Amino acid sequence: MTSRLHAHIGTLRPLEILLAVYDCGSITAASQQLHLTQPTVSMQLKKLADTVGMPLYHTMGRKLIFTDAGRALVATAREVLDSFERLDMTLADLRGSKAGTLRIAVVTTSKYFIPHLLGPFCKRYPTVDIQFKVGNRQQIIERVEQGLDDFYVFSHPPEDIDIEKIEFLPNPLVAIASARHPLGKQKKIPLREFLQAGLLMREEGSGTRFAIEDHLRHKGVEPRGKLTIESNEAIKHAVMAGLGVGILSAHTLAFGGKQGLMVLDVNQLPIETHWYFVWLRSRRLSPVARTFLDYVTHEGREGLLAALRKHGFSE
Ligand code: PGA
Repeated sequence: MTSRLHAHIGTLRPLEILLAVYDCGSITAASQQLHLTQPTVSMQLKKLADTVGMPLYHTMGRKLIFTDAGRALVATAREVLDSFERLDMTLADLRGSKAGTLRIAVVTTSKYFIPHLLGPFCKRYPTVDIQFKVGNRQQIIERVEQGLDDFYVFSHPPEDIDIEKIEFLPNPLVAIASARHPLGKQKKIPLREFLQAGLLMREEGSGTRFAIEDHLRHKGVEPRGKLTIESNEAIKHAVMAGLGVGILSAHTLAFGGKQGLMVLDVNQLPIETHWYFVWLRSRRLSPVARTFLDYVTHEGREGLLAALRKHGFSE
C-alpha cells in the first residue's frame, strides 16, 4: 500500500517547524527563530499530530519530551529536508557554482586547528555557508547518532555506529607542567612519578580523558587525586598555577599557546593518537561535502601541516 501521509501533511513547512522545535527544545525558542507566533507554531504541531494520529510530544514542566512517534517524524523530516538541500546543491553544481551549507561538528580539542583548515576553503568557495559545532566527544557522538552534520572530527571515533573515516593528522597527547615545575629538570620521568604530581583531568565524556584512562589502564597505573576540569584552556591555566600536571593534545599548545608551560619527558608518553574525519556511511554526501572532503585530503591537510610546523609542531 502506498502511504499518502505526505499528501495529508501538504507542504514541507510543518516539517521545518517540527525540526526547529525539536532542535531548540521549546516552542518559544523555535517561534523566535522562525519569526512566527507561538500559537502558530503550536497549531502546526497539532495539525501534524492529527495527521499522524498520535501525540508527538508531552510536556514535563517546561520541557518537551518527544514520543516515539514524534522522534520518528523528526527523523523523517530531517531526511526529507536534507534531500531537498542536497538537490539545491546539486542544481547549484550543475549551474557551475559551489553553493550550499556544510555542517561540521568537532570535538573541543580539534577546535584549535579546524578553523585553519576552514579558512582557505571558505576563501576559495565564498558561496558555501559553514555551520560549525563544538562539543566534547560524547556530545559529538550524540550528533552522529542523530545524523545532524556532514562531517565530524574525532580522535576516538565511535565504534558502534556505521561510519566512514579517514585518518587525517597525528594527535600526540603530551605531558605538561608549569614552566617552574621541578620535574622539568628530569629526563625520562617514570609515569608513576609524573602522576604523583596530581593529574588534572578533563570531564567525563571527553575524548582526551577517554584516551588517557585507556592508556593508563593498559600500563597498569592509576592516577591519584585527579581533579576534573571542563576545558583544555582551564587545565592549562590550572597547570600554570601549579595545581597539578596535565596530559593534553599537543595542538592545544601549538595553536592555543604554551606560555608558562613546558612539555615533560615522561616514559610511556606521549599517547600517540590521530585525528579522523568521520561521516555516516548511510548519508549521501552533497556536492559541497564531496568538494570539502577532496580539499581536506589534499591541499587542506598539507596547508594545516605547514601551519602546525610554523607553530613548532612536528609530525
Ligand atoms: P575532547 O576530545 O575534546 O572531548 O577531549 C578530544 C579527542 O577526541 O581526542
